[in-house]
Amino acid sequence: MKRDLLTILDVSVEEIEALLQRATLLKERLKKGELDASLAGKTLGLLFDKPSTRTRVSFEVAMYQLGGHVLFMSSKETQLSRDESLRDTALVLSRYIDGLVVRTYADESLRELASHAEIPVINGLTDLYHPCQVLGDILTVREKKGDLDSLKVAWVGDGNNVAHSWINAAVRLPFQLSLACPSGYEPRKDILQRAQESAGDRIHLSADPADAVSNADVINTDVWTSMGQEEERQKRLAAFRDFQINNELVRKAKSDVIVMHCLPAHRGEEITDGVMDGPNSVVFDQAENRMHLQRALLDWLLGSQG
Ligand code: CP
Ligand code: NVA
Repeated sequence: MKRDLLTILDVSVEEIEALLQRATLLKERLKKGELDASLAGKTLGLLFDKPSTRTRVSFEVAMYQLGGHVLFMSSKETQLSRDESLRDTALVLSRYIDGLVVRTYADESLRELASHAEIPVINGLTDLYHPCQVLGDILTVREKKGDLDSLKVAWVGDGNNVAHSWINAAVRLPFQLSLACPSGYEPRKDILQRAQESAGDRIHLSADPADAVSNADVINTDVWTSMGQEEERQKRLAAFRDFQINNELVRKAKSDVIVMHCLPAHRGEEITDGVMDGPNSVVFDQAENRMHLQRALLDWLLGSQG
């Protein structure tokens, strides 16, 4: 039975632990120049509706390092742009390739593709979730801080797709998640409520960045205007003005706090140069770990165990 990764809730605690351990091992081996070709002869498709640097390149390189091949498809250049259905597209692609990473707008489109595909489908970002990002981020937090148990993770900014995946991560792993979002830009109520039913008061939402970062071990942020929201940019710049990660805010957290951003960043908006390039920032380690985590993920979903 094929497995998909559409949200973090698709994987159990034990599976997350196995992925993290495998990613750590593969990373260590890669640093020693050891590669294994567990996906030789397999092809991963990438079907993208939105731009990407990290997700595309980290998946492509991960697949090459596992001995496999990659086929990148901008959906504009496929027959999807001429109204071929998602169902037919999924059924056809399943005859050619061994796994599919999808980056699109509506989460429903991803679900529709996955429900018809006979191969594993991986969410490479939708308007609702970015699970590969947050699984990679958890690897980074573990490397820097050890176990996540009882760490305080702050999210300051938009209650967006990456925030939703952090909320789902808090359902699976026992850390404190304190979100500060401007009024009107909170995470979706249904996602938050469902998570709070499992995680209880470990997930806390306010509109106060200082409160969210107080005593935090990790500070996380993301752009104020996500892909597809460009027309709202001016309104958002005003709404998020007090939600910038700057040195003054970072000083309110623990002195060894790590600052994370999934990137791309709009320097000078949600995060200052001083913080991005400062001693607490781990943003480039974070970007690197996307690749290591995804190698473990591909190995699992497309490999012989998958
Ligand atoms: N963080 C992330 O997903 O980056 P890209 O949009 O460059 O893929
Ligand atoms: N929230 C951002 C993340 C980019 C990786 C977006 O959706 O544009």
